[in-house]
Amino acid sequence: MRLEVDIASKTFTSAAGEVHDVLAGIRFTLEAGEVGVLVGPSGCGKSTMLRILAGLDPDYRGHVSRPAAARIGMVFQEPRLLPWRSVEDNVRLAAPLADEAKLSALFAILELDAHRSHFPGELSLGLARRVALARAFAIEPDFLILDEPLASLDGPLAARLRDQIAILVDRRTVMTLLVTHDIDDAARLGDRLFLLSPRPARIVAEVAIRTPRSARGDAAIATIKADIARRMAGDPTGRVA
Ligand SMILES: Nc1ncnc2c1ncn2[C@@H]1O[C@H](COP(=O)(O)OP(=O)(O)OP(=O)(O)O)[C@@H](O)[C@H]1O
Ligand SMILES: [Mg+2]
Repeated sequence: MRLEVDIASKTFTSAAGEVHDVLAGIRFTLEAGEVGVLVGPSGCGKSTMLRILAGLDPDYRGHVSRPAAARIGMVFQEPRLLPWRSVEDNVRLAAPLADEAKLSALFAILELDAHRSHFPGELSLGLARRVALARAFAIEPDFLILDEPLASLDGPLAARLRDQIAILVDRRTVMTLLVTHDIDDAARLGDRLFLLSPRPARIVAEVAIRTPRSARGDAAIATIKADIARRMAGDPTGRVA
């Protein structure tokens, strides 16, 4: 299982005929079991890239190769739940073959037990995000795509959800690609970080983190963050924990 990405360019044309360059020069690979993190400024083209990688947008110049049979679990930037279905049905509809024990474990990790019969309109954003995560994990994906799963949650909740995502991606071999603009989240969750320029997005630096997620204490995280900051400032000599 391997993802190979070589996007030469992606443009959008406005109704007035103006051409906007969104992606330019995105080349990287990701292996099974790795968590890749895309870090970039707002509007640089991250969600556009994820849609291409998920196979939802074929209109770009370049090539993306992923195993034909890969099961893809995607968490969009907005939770996109079916409003007329309960939490449990939202997850079961996506994963009709998932067995009860696996679903129960998933609901437990994401602290959704008490919300199984609630409807999306009754959920806070943090809960809705967790349901979207449960739905993506329930299909036991080979390739998991997460678009800013922690954005606009308060600090403690974001930290808890981040830990829950770390548990889930380490439970089985899955190739994960996650978008964030938060360097702390990137340092705690990623195996390889891809730092993006403003629009049109290109990869300005790649940072490999060798310390396993579970072994990253505060000192290791501080070192990784300092390295990311150096790379973002254009210094390629930084060392990574
Ligand atoms: N369907 C579309 N038609 C025209 N322009 C689009 C379309 N989708 C995105 N864009 C433009 O492409 C650029 C990149 O958008 P995208 O949503 O990929 O950015 P992003 O990095 O995910 O931003 P954010 O951090 O705010 O989520 C933006 O300028 C956006 O306005
Ligand atoms: Mg986005």
